[in-house]
Amino acid sequence: MAETIDGRAVARALDERTRAMVDSLVAEGNARPGLAVVLVGNDPASEVYVSHKTKACERLGLASFEHRLPAETSEADLLVLIADLNARVDVHGVLVQVPLPDHIDEARVLEAIDPAKDVDGFHPVNVGRISAGTGGIRPCTAAGVVMLIKAVEPELAGFDALVIGRSNIVGKPVATLLTQEGCTVTLAHSQTRDLPEKCRRADIVVAAVGRPELVRGDWVRDGAIVIDVGISRSENADGKGQLVGDVAFAEMQHARAVTPVPGGVGPMTIAVLLHNTVEAAKAFAG
Ligand code: GUN
Repeated sequence: MAETIDGRAVARALDERTRAMVDSLVAEGNARPGLAVVLVGNDPASEVYVSHKTKACERLGLASFEHRLPAETSEADLLVLIADLNARVDVHGVLVQVPLPDHIDEARVLEAIDPAKDVDGFHPVNVGRISAGTGGIRPCTAAGVVMLIKAVEPELAGFDALVIGRSNIVGKPVATLLTQEGCTVTLAHSQTRDLPEKCRRADIVVAAVGRPELVRGDWVRDGAIVIDVGISRSENADGKGQLVGDVAFAEMQHARAVTPVPGGVGPMTIAVLLHNTVEAAKAFAG
């Protein structure tokens, strides 16, 4: 039987380390680490994410600053807010929830965030540093994925990894981080040929495309580690929604370990976000 990787437990362990860092920073007379979260418009999924982020800050003792702006906010006004947050000494992390409304240039906004406060790890300076292996803030979900893999297998050098999905938020940074861990990485996407065959060669499979149960049991070799980043809502016959991942979980008994949905990658994202914020505060404290 495959091990089910308990993302909630790994996230809790990271939270404990984050909380201890907050306590020692404050005890040393530094400002309490603070995270500013900016939400433009009222996308329901984003509203939920933002309130989870704020609650997690309260739980771990960080200060949080929520900025909820109307959907018609201009790009110029958003850039003014970001400049203000960049300058504030009580704000160590700045996160602008994406997607942004269509009239706002997302790249311009993300590039306006001080890279030292870019706790999402989306700024090109951080993307470049991570890619070059010269430090940088790691994107939360991607870093969480690697932590879950290492919870099963701490030494990844030499493993063949297949990452399915080339998004800037997950697929590309996961491929970068696994390359740095010494894996031989294949980055697959919608134009990839013969995906099942590539999947069967992989020791580690990371699925991040948002296609319910794309990865089937006969795609996965015996003993592989399977990480499911996908999260979609399916409608049951009774009309109740059920969360499903990109991996057919019930078909993975022959794998070494697999993450469930929910309770796998999901809990890691916010835990890494808060950890990144406290690391940023520590860097400002010098
Ligand atoms: N939208 C979906 N996921 C994320 C995330 O991790 N960070 C931000 N800023 N927006 C998101």
